[in-house]
Amino acid sequence: MLKKPKLQASCGGQPFTIVIFGATGNLACNKLLPALFQLDCVGKLPDETRVMGFGRREWRDEDWRAVVAADLHEKGKVDDEGRLAGFLQRLHFHNGDLNDEASFLALRQRLDGEPGCQGGLVFYFAVTPEVYAPICAHLATAGLTDETQGCRRVVVEKPFGHDIESAHILDSVLHRHFTERQIFRIDHYLGKGTVQNIMVLRFANLLLEPLWNRNYIDHVQISHSETAGIGRRGGYYDGAGALRDMIQSHLLQMLALIAMEPPPSLDPEAVRDEKVKVLRSIRPISPRSVHAHAFRAQYARGTRNGQTLPGYLDEEGIPPNSTTETYSALKLYIDNWRWRGVPFYLRTGKAMTESRSQVSIRFRHPPQQLFRETPIEQVAPNWLLIGIQPNENLRIEMQIKTEGLEMRTRTTQLDASYTREGMVKLDAYGALLLDVLLGDQTLFLRYDEVEWAWRVVDPILKTWSIERDFIYTYPAGSWGPDVATRLFDSDDHFWRNEL
Ligand code: BG6
Repeated sequence: MLKKPKLQASCGGQPFTIVIFGATGNLACNKLLPALFQLDCVGKLPDETRVMGFGRREWRDEDWRAVVAADLHEKGKVDDEGRLAGFLQRLHFHNGDLNDEASFLALRQRLDGEPGCQGGLVFYFAVTPEVYAPICAHLATAGLTDETQGCRRVVVEKPFGHDIESAHILDSVLHRHFTERQIFRIDHYLGKGTVQNIMVLRFANLLLEPLWNRNYIDHVQISHSETAGIGRRGGYYDGAGALRDMIQSHLLQMLALIAMEPPPSLDPEAVRDEKVKVLRSIRPISPRSVHAHAFRAQYARGTRNGQTLPGYLDEEGIPPNSTTETYSALKLYIDNWRWRGVPFYLRTGKAMTESRSQVSIRFRHPPQQLFRETPIEQVAPNWLLIGIQPNENLRIEMQIKTEGLEMRTRTTQLDASYTREGMVKLDAYGALLLDVLLGDQTLFLRYDEVEWAWRVVDPILKTWSIERDFIYTYPAGSWGPDVATRLFDSDDHFWRNEL
């Protein structure tokens, strides 16, 4: 996972074509195509890789290329027109309907006939899970799942289902036509360098390990906030909500990396086994204790820098009585030897004050109040802060004596920045797409990880789906409602909003 072999993205020597279902959708436009373009620009995309967009528009290759070029320009991604021209030549567009078998038979013919499109195929499902079943069935009928013709891999997005039952169904749909080795369940947080750095921090340094347990750690916070609201994703978001959208996947994955035991090796199964053990050890939340462990809220109209921000109910496609949460906070306990009794607070929100993802670990107070007889009123605890984004760094907060004769303390910081100036930062999607081409599943979710993550959130979702008449609100542009602090175990717990 962490050591990438020299890229030989091929399948028995054959090149890959990435077929994107939903080629004109949000995910393809905002994430996949910019990530592929970036990979190409930094020379990481193998020369022979082709991309086949599949969509309902009646476009020829040139039409799609023009749209992608304009989009990449608009996003400020193009520094070099020559590179863009080269990238566009890799793109082809196939006009088809996901529910129509004939479109897939035509796709097969197209791939067989298009120069450079033979060999391995990656099917990227950038579409809603409801159409996974017809896509899989039509791919099979068209002979496109047949591995005697080259490798076949399928990439599916999160949330994988909308609860545990639907996740089971989706999984069995995929397994009807693909083996586990061929299925890549993506969680793009695992492609972020700083998220991978959690493992390096923990397992390449001896210093922290003796402290990394219930004896020294008071609590852990994993927080992700965004200034943006839901924008034009209302259709998807209103059926999902913050708990499914961020916590069930990204935040629980970060929790697993923070809390897992050292794996015996970096082998994909070894790493994923350890993550599953953590997820299995999370204390189940009973229906009666949902409110003690989970909190939800929705953004209402607010302001930022004097500008009025819309509330969630003002957004496009949102029903006026929606109680979908855009903010969600959880308190979880991991019932194992290392973590028993240590609260893990998870929080995510849209339309907040700042965009920031951070893990904050607070250590306990020293056992003896040695400075009681001095002017020091209370010694602040140590913190370890792991900035995921936008600041990618690691900070340890310690207490030192202030200058002068009096015995007083102040907090000082030991900082280690993750990024160097001039360093090219690969987009998380780009890094993961390379892994798909390489066939490396370490940073993709095994089904049992998905299943155990659903087990954690399912009781909360069930309770919330019944309680539809009230939801707390917070002004857009704020850090969320104060009442969310009711989850805290102690009066001196508070959200660390800043590094
Ligand atoms: C996605 C969610 O998975 O992650 C979005 O669906 C969210 O709602 C996004 O905005 C956050 O990702 P990042 O990489 O921008 O932090």
